[in-house]
Amino acid sequence: QRPPATILFIFGGSGDLNLRKLTPALYNLFIDKYLSEKFAVVGLGRSKYTDESFRERLLEGVQSFSRRKDDLDDTWKSFSPSISYLQMDADDAGAYPKLSDFVAAKKKEWGEEPNVVFYLAVAPQLVPDIATNLGKLPLCGEKSHVRIVVEKPFGHDLKTAQELNALLGGLFAEEQIYRIDHYLGKETVQNILALRFANSLFEPIWNRRYVEYVQITASETVGLEGRGGYYEGSGALRDMIQNHLLQMLCMVATEAPISFEANEVRNKKVDVLNAIRRIRPEQVNDVAVRGQYGPGEKDGKKIPGYREEEGVKPDSATETFAAVKLYVDNWRWEDVPFYLRTGKSLPEKATVITVQFKPAPYYAFPEEATQDWHSNQLTIGIQPDRDIRLRFQAKRPGQTLAIDPVEMVFSYKDAYSSQEPEAYETLLLDVMTGDATLFMRADQVEAAWKVVTPILEAWENQTPDFPNYAPGSWGPEAATQLIEKDGFHWTMK
Ligand code: BG6
Repeated sequence: QRPPATILFIFGGSGDLNLRKLTPALYNLFIDKYLSEKFAVVGLGRSKYTDESFRERLLEGVQSFSRRKDDLDDTWKSFSPSISYLQMDADDAGAYPKLSDFVAAKKKEWGEEPNVVFYLAVAPQLVPDIATNLGKLPLCGEKSHVRIVVEKPFGHDLKTAQELNALLGGLFAEEQIYRIDHYLGKETVQNILALRFANSLFEPIWNRRYVEYVQITASETVGLEGRGGYYEGSGALRDMIQNHLLQMLCMVATEAPISFEANEVRNKKVDVLNAIRRIRPEQVNDVAVRGQYGPGEKDGKKIPGYREEEGVKPDSATETFAAVKLYVDNWRWEDVPFYLRTGKSLPEKATVITVQFKPAPYYAFPEEATQDWHSNQLTIGIQPDRDIRLRFQAKRPGQTLAIDPVEMVFSYKDAYSSQEPEAYETLLLDVMTGDATLFMRADQVEAAWKVVTPILEAWENQTPDFPNYAPGSWGPEAATQLIEKDGFHWTMK
């Protein structure tokens, strides 16, 4: 669906997110003719740029980060006139009417009322003031054609998330607020719902009777990449588990929605979060593991430890790795463990969901035929391998009876020749067309904070023995134990 006339204001216009993600995404949407012909994007920030020098900077971003580079010069020439820059200090309440003036001028030029999107690609501490100043603009009354997009982290804990929700809720209607979790924009994450609810095969066995456990890994090879200032106050549990991993858990665990209307899908997901068993303080050390990488070597190169990174305290207690075991208390999932793990400086960049099925109830095959017996397993590759693999047992060809595990594989790359959109393309288009299905509603964010709060509180009161893993390893030994003490294994190890 092509959105109506739209003006997109980006606070943090000259920042990294715009350069690496937003402008390349808009550029790709432009190529695919998903932008309105009446479209304007305005970068806002304190740095000094002319429209021309701002466009040049963004072009560098597109050159490096867009998935499309053919005919770049010509396409950029047609796309870039829609970009402009407005120098303003977000703290200066007196500057905001300039935004209304811009909208009024465009309305006149286009002969219609445009949708106005305010994208807050800024440090979290700036969000309240910007939102408050925007809320004062007459333009931002309860009109659905004005939308505000807020990046993660959404709050630092439950209390601050509630405060931020209360503040935004006082200024905008919930339908106007788009809280981004970019994992929900990934094609492979969205495909989980298609796999489950567009097929009749999986749903009958997608429950505690057949599923032994579920594991979700989101591993990264990179360390901090200069984000010490932010990460030091966050850590892996807040940065990845509270949002991306819990959202993927929701996709795996949700009941079937009766429609794909935004609130229906989000209601079902919030039910999952609310059903996650509360962790009691005395249980935290049994169900949650944290880690921090020390110095080491990778491919013959010295890697500084987390505590040696810029912006990090020499005795930092911030975790760069977290693993948790959760239960979803409902009829479908009671007593099925969900193991979640994420970390920086691990051996692979990969996000993978594994649904492990229980063993067959009885094996009639002779013991020697089943030396290498593995129960069925469904693996959903989110990235970089985008695939779905079903492991099952097959008879090895030959006169001796031997049963081996084999895989049935669906790979995006092999099945579809067309390129798939980047997460930010999908999400930006959804904001412009007004579809909030893939965005976090206030209660979802708070429910997710409730899940991790007992862990955060317990960790705050204990001094961790950091560093406790080598860069390039799969994290601390205790994370292996977390799953192995239940008799299971991480699939990537
Ligand atoms: C972000 C986190 O939300 O997600 C980063 O703040 C992390 O720390 C990133 O690196 C991972 O995203 P992706 O899409 O590269 O897996």
